[in-house]
Amino acid sequence: MQGRKVLLGVTGSIAVFKAAGWVSALAKEEAQVTVMMTEAATRFVTPLTFGALSGHQVSTDMFSTDAEEMMAHISLSGDAEVVLIAPATAQTIAQLAQGMADNLLTAAVLASAAPVVVCPAMNSKMLAHPATQRNLATLKELGYRIVEPENGPLACGEVGSGRLAEWETVRETLLGLFADQDLAGQHILITAGPTREPLDPARYLSNRSSGKMGYALARTAQRRGAEVVLISGPTSLPAPPGVTMVPVQTAAEMAEAVQEHAPGAQIIIKAAAVADFRAKEVASFKIKKKGADLRLDLVPNQDILASLGKERRQDQVLVGFAAESNNHEAEGRRKLEAKQVDLIVVNDILGQQTGFDVDTNQVTLITQEGAEQLALLSKEETANKIWDKVIALSKGKGK
Ligand SMILES: Cc1cc2nc3c(=O)[nH]c(=O)nc-3n(C[C@H](O)[C@H](O)[C@H](O)COP(=O)(O)O)c2cc1C
Repeated sequence: MQGRKVLLGVTGSIAVFKAAGWVSALAKEEAQVTVMMTEAATRFVTPLTFGALSGHQVSTDMFSTDAEEMMAHISLSGDAEVVLIAPATAQTIAQLAQGMADNLLTAAVLASAAPVVVCPAMNSKMLAHPATQRNLATLKELGYRIVEPENGPLACGEVGSGRLAEWETVRETLLGLFADQDLAGQHILITAGPTREPLDPARYLSNRSSGKMGYALARTAQRRGAEVVLISGPTSLPAPPGVTMVPVQTAAEMAEAVQEHAPGAQIIIKAAAVADFRAKEVASFKIKKKGADLRLDLVPNQDILASLGKERRQDQVLVGFAAESNNHEAEGRRKLEAKQVDLIVVNDILGQQTGFDVDTNQVTLITQEGAEQLALLSKEETANKIWDKVIALSKGKGK
């Protein structure tokens, strides 16, 4: 978001206070946010709040004779990279659908060539009304992006659809608008997180994978235009907006889900840390402490990556991850050959800022052509570098 020029249009919904939080979030990411408000919006939260949070003057009056605000509907829209209308009332949505320009906000939208993102927020009956639905459909036809409101408790005391979307969802929409759509049309399958292999009703074997790398891959691919299916073991991460989630627990469930989704994918990335072993027998009741040693018989799980390597179509790009603690490059190269994949991403699980449960990673990309060590980057930056490599590999396959 850094340096991005966002023109935020705030309208008179009870959810206005949430938009104030969004301005803070954007400012923290060093985006340049300018705010315009309808007269109704200023009844809920004063322009002072938005001015203080954005660091810029807030415009509210189309007919201001103040030198800085004169013709604001034209000057505001001039260099905006995106116009975000949030919260968007039924009233403003109706005005925009009609192409009206009777206040500063609606006039600025008409005067802007930037993409417009509309985040409706209203009572569920207002939202369901055929007039509102028709207006939203018209906006879609006009090329406006609608971030659908969510279901849940509403300010009016009812429960239903009409809650302003969460900031994470809106942020993803904005990032998608700013990103190159170089994965558009690609169906991508990603696995992420650990698996849990039950021992008894209370215990399981697992590992320290947080899922952060796989989720970063899913988010960035979705932003770059791909259709993403994310098969995830248990994690504490929120589902990336716009991604199809397939939750699983065990390695066997993950293998089954991969089998089901792999044929439809052009690119498959296995970032999950799948357990190599499971209990030979799962106890039906909690294993009791008996004061003596306990031995567990383990049997190997299916090697999902190797199976994919055997069954893959040659036009698919197959990527595996290798979490290594020594001999990284040699081990990565061995896996590249043994598992018949196009790219192995090796990460050093002993590094302080790499591997499990941290937000940064330093990986080595190993292909038939050679090894490339990336710098220490955020997991999202690492994910984008992996996609650049995958796109180059796809092109090499003539796609
Ligand atoms: C307390 C209160 C809450 C309101 N909340 C909403 C809302 O969430 N969504 C909506 O569409 N209208 C809401 N309205 C009605 C709008 O404020 C009204 O339609 C107004 O004309 C919108 O003007 P604007 O779109 O120019 O901001 C609310 C009104 C009041 C008094």
